[in-house]
Amino acid sequence: MGSWARGATVAVTGASSGIGRAVACRLATAGATVLAVARRGDELSALAAEFADAGGGLVVPVVADVTDPATPRRLSAVLEQHSGRLDGLVNCAGLARFASIDSADLEDLDRMLAVNVRAPAALIQVLLPALRAADGSVVTVTSIGGVVAMPDRALYGASKAAANSLTRSLAHELAPGVRVNAVVPGAVDTPMYADLGLDEKDTAALREGLLRTTPMGRFGQPDDVAGYVCTLLDPHVSGWVTGALVTIDGGRSA
Ligand SMILES: NC(=O)c1ccc[n+]([C@@H]2O[C@H](COP(=O)([O-])OP(=O)(O)OC[C@H]3O[C@@H](n4cnc5c(N)ncnc54)[C@H](OP(=O)(O)O)[C@@H]3O)[C@@H](O)[C@H]2O)c1
Repeated sequence: MGSWARGATVAVTGASSGIGRAVACRLATAGATVLAVARRGDELSALAAEFADAGGGLVVPVVADVTDPATPRRLSAVLEQHSGRLDGLVNCAGLARFASIDSADLEDLDRMLAVNVRAPAALIQVLLPALRAADGSVVTVTSIGGVVAMPDRALYGASKAAANSLTRSLAHELAPGVRVNAVVPGAVDTPMYADLGLDEKDTAALREGLLRTTPMGRFGQPDDVAGYVCTLLDPHVSGWVTGALVTIDGGRSA
């Protein structure tokens, strides 16, 4: 990663696991202060400990539910204890519930919208002055489920399509000061697959189908996505990139 990260401050939601954890690790390794947000404090503390004596960046655990209306202000207060400026906001916390429309619980749609759409919007709204002060940028982790048809997971796809739309519109609204982009992953091997609301047999069938339809012949790894998140954050490389939805899916949607 370029030199921009040394001394930068970046908030990463969903930093306790999977893609968000990989993003936090990359940023801290490059010398950034990472405000790491998730509900599982033990996972965040373990991550912070990895960087405590490394002499580079810092991971600051912020144990919070992103759907809690108090979370954006809390994060803002933590930011004030550090630099007060925010070079990047990575919205990686996500909720996925997969079900066909005839069996779906519509309350799951509300829950997915709360985590995947409302929380990023609320965080951007409250943290905007700090992002503007730094000419910072936002990267939201959406999904190809928000771009192409996803039978049997239409509601998840709808929430991610909304996150893609938020990205494009805010890119226009906040230019030229704050860049707003999204990475759009295909199937990435993370603990998310253990928590989709499917039984073991259906989860195995889903994974087999995803593998079969991914031309690169493997699941992505969290770091396959994290590298692009960091590239989009980097103003030296991506200073003229805003409103981009960067597909990282092993060719699945091509
Ligand atoms: N894996 C894939 O195939 C795939 C594909 C496309 C897009 N994505 C997207 O990638 C993002 C990261 O998912 P992942 O695959 O890395 O899954 P993961 O390993 O299960 O990570 C999900 C993260 O979201 C956090 N989170 C969930 N609800 C939260 C809440 N209410 N408040 C705070 N944090 C919350 C979790 O932390 P706590 O449980 O500690 O709160 C965890 O850190 C998600 O937005 C997901 O939709 C994943």
